[in-house]
Amino acid sequence: MAVPSPPEVGANLASSVDLGELQRLLSRVAAVFDIDRMLSAPADQAAVIEYYTQSRSLYRNVHSSAGAIHMALSAGGRFREEDYLEQARRVESLFQPVRPRRVLELGCGTAFNSGYLASRHPDIQFFALDLTPLHLQEARQRTRVQDNLQLVRGDFHRLPWADQAFDLVFEVEAVCHVRDLDTMLAETFRVLSPGGRFVMFDGCRHSHFRSLPEPVQIASRLVEQSMAIQTDLVLSDCMQAFEAAGFSLREQQDITHLALPTIKRLQGKARLFYFWPWMARQLLRWNPAFANTVAVYLMPETIRTGAHVYLQTVMERPPPSAA
Ligand SMILES: C[S@@+](CC[C@H](N)C(=O)[O-])C[C@H]1O[C@@H](n2cnc3c(N)ncnc32)[C@H](O)[C@@H]1O
Repeated sequence: MAVPSPPEVGANLASSVDLGELQRLLSRVAAVFDIDRMLSAPADQAAVIEYYTQSRSLYRNVHSSAGAIHMALSAGGRFREEDYLEQARRVESLFQPVRPRRVLELGCGTAFNSGYLASRHPDIQFFALDLTPLHLQEARQRTRVQDNLQLVRGDFHRLPWADQAFDLVFEVEAVCHVRDLDTMLAETFRVLSPGGRFVMFDGCRHSHFRSLPEPVQIASRLVEQSMAIQTDLVLSDCMQAFEAAGFSLREQQDITHLALPTIKRLQGKARLFYFWPWMARQLLRWNPAFANTVAVYLMPETIRTGAHVYLQTVMERPPPSAA
């Protein structure tokens, strides 16, 4: 089968892009936060767990009371609550060609995606792995009645399953926290059966990130750090790593425009936070989780200036005949 090449996402956005709005938002962030301190904060696994534990109530109250911890994918430019299910629906559309018996979700959060899929496919065994105990606790409460869904605490760099245990593995906005992409990909490849698929929905830095103007790079690093993401990887590094792990690329779509309505909606809420810097600093003292307003406040600009993209990627562990 011919393998489509990845899209030239954002390739037409060059350094000539207007930075006025980005600089304005950066200065408002600097009025509330110590930017140097934020940029040098650790984002190891302990920081990831702390970030999600600390910000759980904000996510629940501001983002999704149903438990989604990802961007909705909204066609037509308008956010709708039900669009949080779009990633799961896209995974589900692969059940027809792949006919999986066992499906694994990496970084499942509160099992919003796996819970939905497991309730609709009682004949498939679902497994969902996450690092953050609080998320798994909530996932257990939400999915108590589903005996075809097993929740497991663990790290996607070290999967506690035998070789070729799954026919389909997917992730939604979890691999952005990866510490060692090669190890994580080798593990995913190992647990997939030949012909099995690995589906990713995630944001990343565009391939030309390192040639973007400094304020864009700083804003991007702030976006990432404020969500406990620490990476040097750009898209082309990831594509090389996928290939080196043995995967073949089946499909890659730039779906940033579908995530934008959620991001803009959250930016609207974050604007209120930055309106009075003095008040914002008080709020931050009361609840440090408000630091993640940085991400949604700046992200429309890091997207517009060509730094961040949101992609749907489908890979295959090649079957023996194609290996
Ligand atoms: C943005 S949330 C997405 C949750 C879920 N996929 C969803 O769509 O609602 C990212 C999740 O990845 C988990 N995570 C981060 N690093 C991980 C790792 N190394 N192993 C397993 N889970 C991880 C976090 O605990 C968090 O629950």
